[in-house]
Amino acid sequence: MNDYYDISIKKWRLDKIDTAAASRLGYTYTFIKGNIANQKLVNDIFNTYKPDIVVNLAAQAGVRYSITNPDAYIESNIIGFYNILEACRHSYDNGNKGVEHLVYASSSSVYGSNQKVPYSVDDKVDNPVSLYAATKKSNELMAHAYSKLYNIPSTGLRFFTVYGPAGRPDMAYFGFTNKLLKGENIQLFNYGNCKRDFTYIDDIVEGVIRVMQGPPERRTGEDGLPIPPYAIYNIGNSNPENLLDFVTILQEELIRAGVLPSDYDFEAHKQLVPMQPGDVPVTYADTSALERDFGFKPSTSLRDGLRKFAEWYKEFYKI
Ligand SMILES: NC(=O)c1ccc[n+]([C@@H]2O[C@H](COP(=O)([O-])OP(=O)(O)OC[C@H]3O[C@@H](n4cnc5c(N)ncnc54)[C@H](O)[C@@H]3O)[C@@H](O)[C@H]2O)c1
Repeated sequence: MNDYYDISIKKWRLDKIDTAAASRLGYTYTFIKGNIANQKLVNDIFNTYKPDIVVNLAAQAGVRYSITNPDAYIESNIIGFYNILEACRHSYDNGNKGVEHLVYASSSSVYGSNQKVPYSVDDKVDNPVSLYAATKKSNELMAHAYSKLYNIPSTGLRFFTVYGPAGRPDMAYFGFTNKLLKGENIQLFNYGNCKRDFTYIDDIVEGVIRVMQGPPERRTGEDGLPIPPYAIYNIGNSNPENLLDFVTILQEELIRAGVLPSDYDFEAHKQLVPMQPGDVPVTYADTSALERDFGFKPSTSLRDGLRKFAEWYKEFYKI
């Protein structure tokens, strides 16, 4: 519940979770507001609830913000994630069954300026181009070490440009919408020649739920020590779209939903500008590992996903 962006969106999501939990018999849901960089708090939560499965999505997100506010990334993504790992490690103390699976959010940004597409989890990813990406790659390394040392089954998920209702206002599609509504110009970086593998939020949710239930197997090596029960998957649409096509569909859907008037002069509000530091020209997910192990591949089209976003936006901002 930090104020990196409008907290009312986070409250809207919490309301949704409350309603969903209340409508399902036998499910309980507890919200605890706190900072994962606070080790005592994280340990107290693990000791109280003794989770079988841990899914950590908490992080300081955003590539550009990491250029001006690096401290937030070290605090949440490095110290916070370390606290989660330590809590998982100590969940096995005194012979307890402990954590059966740790799932955590990594990012497509770990691929940096990878020239080869599509991006595969087998590619070498040692060239991050932002501190954000470096912290996410560090999470994968830290998880690997803890999986090896303490036999913690862990799975990192590299999400590719997630969008949809109640998404993050700092992301391009949301920021573009705000600007177009105010009659301001939108800037398309790299002169609009960026390609992104846009992934609809429901596909991410489905992927997380499936992965949660399939921890990597614990096995013992010939040396008698654990072979790290460690896995990484891409979750992306595996269908990169040109930024120019993306904003065209966005504009059409904003008009359809009644967010923008039908005679909106889109061309007059579009500026083509150079590439920004930390950005990459293309992201493209190879999801074959996810398909092989979990029988799932994101498939929501940009048209359907942006329609849901535009409709949510209209309702949320009461336009
Ligand atoms: N949205 C994307 O396109 C995308 C792409 C790749 C990876 N990811 C990753 O997915 C995860 C979720 O991203 P999101 O887009 O929903 O971002 P988000 O900012 O909406 O969600 C992250 C949440 O973590 C919370 N948080 C941050 N630091 C915290 C801390 N120290 N303690 C407790 N909570 C803290 C924030 O308040 C926020 O609500 C993040 O790990 C992000 O890095 C997102």
